[in-house]
Amino acid sequence: MDKVWIDKAPSNIALIKYMGKVEGDINQTINPTLSYTLNHLTTEVQLAPSPDGQDHFEPLPGANINLSGQQEARFLNFLKKIKDSFQYDGHFIVKSGNNFPHDCGLASSASSFAALTKVTVKAICELTERSLPPQKDIAALSRLGSGSSCRSFFSPWSFWSHDAIQEIELPYKDLHHMVLVVNSSVKKVSSSEAHKRVVSSSLFDGRIDRAKTRMLHLIEAFQNKDWQKAYEICWAEFWDMHVLFETSVPSFGYMVPETIKVLNWIRDYWKMIGDGPIVTMDAGPNIHFLFRSNQKEMMENICEKWSKEIQILRY
Ligand code: DP6
Repeated sequence: MDKVWIDKAPSNIALIKYMGKVEGDINQTINPTLSYTLNHLTTEVQLAPSPDGQDHFEPLPGANINLSGQQEARFLNFLKKIKDSFQYDGHFIVKSGNNFPHDCGLASSASSFAALTKVTVKAICELTERSLPPQKDIAALSRLGSGSSCRSFFSPWSFWSHDAIQEIELPYKDLHHMVLVVNSSVKKVSSSEAHKRVVSSSLFDGRIDRAKTRMLHLIEAFQNKDWQKAYEICWAEFWDMHVLFETSVPSFGYMVPETIKVLNWIRDYWKMIGDGPIVTMDAGPNIHFLFRSNQKEMMENICEKWSKEIQILRY
């Protein structure tokens, strides 16, 4: 039986966002970004030698995956890029699947590109009897497939700025993650497209400095265990990104009425209790909450409140 290579990679959620790329084809972030690795949300990729001289994609049997033709082509194009970087001209059957529902509105590009890169590098190194490159080089290669995937190589906190992708030592290593899936339909503007469009916003000037300042303040807040300050910085940061979307020309956006309802509610909750989760959003309508390990009961209560109206995933 032919050899099969298998590997997995987690997703991540950014608190200081990657939004806007340096010109070129290399998914280089214009500002430093910080993320928390979501080790419970993973993609598995399996590779087997392809007998017909072509690469193929197949969903992993029984797993959650539903790639459009365009997404499948992007995945296979990137496989080719990885092979080219090793001057390897063999072919593979690629199978991939997520351990989270594909229709829940959660981006899987970070975990899927990270898993594809990991397993392909492993397979090629074995087939060509080379030693594995260092983790940071594999992460840099993965970035060429999808920028945010490079942060999935480090855990629990990842820092990415220009060519530096590394773990960063911060407190709060075991957060609970909850997503309020207010809308799970496929987004009309992909995050790759959003990166291109935001430069047309008149508020894009100054974005790099705002993100850099927030990065410094957020790291300081975490180091001082000032959770409320961290919440305030993350709140301002995701709004900054969504305001860039809304003020692009032409304007676009992801928030729906339920998003605003939940955001208003959680802000009031913080005011009332003086405590709450860190809140953030990606390029989509869904809301991510991060709770400290000693806020489990709070998470259960918030889940109880919203689960009648909104699909909730929590870990
Ligand atoms: C809003 O990594 O999906 O999630 O490099 O074009 O694949 P590409 O973009 P992608 O962008 C993610 C944007 C974001 C913010 C973030 O994760 O930092």
